[in-house]
Amino acid sequence: MRKETIERLKKEYGDAFYLLNSKQFRSNYLELKDAFSSVYPSFNIAYSYKTNYTPKLCRIVNELGGYAEVVSEMELELALRIGVKPENIIWNGPVKNPREVERFLRLGGTVNVDNADELDLIKSIVERYPKEKFGLGIRVNYDVDDGVVSRFGFDVLGDDFKECCAYVRRTPNVELAVLQCHFAKRNAEYWPARAKGMVDLIDRIGVIPKKVDLGGGIFGKMADELKAQFSVNVPEYQAYADTVKVFADRFGNQGPELIIEPGSALVGDCMQFVGTVKSIKSVRGKWFASVLGSQQNVSMSGVNPPIGIVHMGGKTKEYKTIDLVGFTCIEGDVLYRGYRGELAIGDAVVISNCGSYSIVMKPPFILPNFPVLDISEGKTELIKRGETYDDLFHTFVY
Ligand SMILES: Cc1ncc(COP(=O)(O)O)c(C=O)c1O
Repeated sequence: MRKETIERLKKEYGDAFYLLNSKQFRSNYLELKDAFSSVYPSFNIAYSYKTNYTPKLCRIVNELGGYAEVVSEMELELALRIGVKPENIIWNGPVKNPREVERFLRLGGTVNVDNADELDLIKSIVERYPKEKFGLGIRVNYDVDDGVVSRFGFDVLGDDFKECCAYVRRTPNVELAVLQCHFAKRNAEYWPARAKGMVDLIDRIGVIPKKVDLGGGIFGKMADELKAQFSVNVPEYQAYADTVKVFADRFGNQGPELIIEPGSALVGDCMQFVGTVKSIKSVRGKWFASVLGSQQNVSMSGVNPPIGIVHMGGKTKEYKTIDLVGFTCIEGDVLYRGYRGELAIGDAVVISNCGSYSIVMKPPFILPNFPVLDISEGKTELIKRGETYDDLFHTFVY
């Protein structure tokens, strides 16, 4: 980041803001799509809205022919407002509003049921509209040896799942639209079991769904300094893509469409946060720089994010170790531990890899959120204005 650019943006938007890189997002999408398509051509991406539902990003996915993966009626509403066709939306999530489920199903969308009670809801809807066709999605849950007993989806060895499959077989106006799974751990080593688990399941139930959805859980791109802070290997896209060869081997080019639901893999490296050093002090020999910016803005904890300091003209001093701390009153609100280098009040702190679970998870705590700008395409585009106090206060009854 150049000092002149930051100066210009600060003048117009204040001392803290996000920079969205939509160009990088587009390029990540195409690269990830190519990686999987090279192994199994009938492939598509369903972007995980919850990770970062900035409309500009969701629109890019839609333009590029990708699907929307939503997990609430709120995200569903956003996808529809953006103009995503209902048949290109996949609705996951453990709790869904029944009225919205009915509306969405009748529009031709796919709902992935999570449990037997939801299946009962679908049955009652289908029964009421015997002349209409419905696509049923089922979220499944099996062991991939990752040490997690997930709470999501149907246990593939349980009676409820058996009933799901039997229901599809005996109901003429219902087809198996999607078999979906998701495993949160992003280690590529669990992906072969994930992919093979789906192929084995299809063979066992004897029904080939229209789409097989392997979920998210793919690491995004990051600098080596961030990679080194993970206890597991952070692989390239292709390492995940190679694991779906089992679909090509089993189905050739006659198989179901294969989908993944990446969030972080697409958007993680597509946002930076820029904050400003407001004060520097020492307490019992320990140095702190207070920043307009917080861990709440970047949603990264337990690691030191990739950071750049842009000196803005103040008199700098060399620090052997200084913690860059946030504007909240939480002791643990540390943006970066043990920074070493020159620093001055007024310097800009540029934090990278802030694209996933950041702006969508920023609570209205201490300060409203800062604006989001996109400068990746040559001009400065305001993506989200800074929140005002009224944005946060107006739902209270005074
Ligand atoms: C069902 C589902 N799909 C996709 C994702 C996106 O995962 P990631 O950010 O690891 O790509 C999540 C994240 O929790 C999820 O729960």
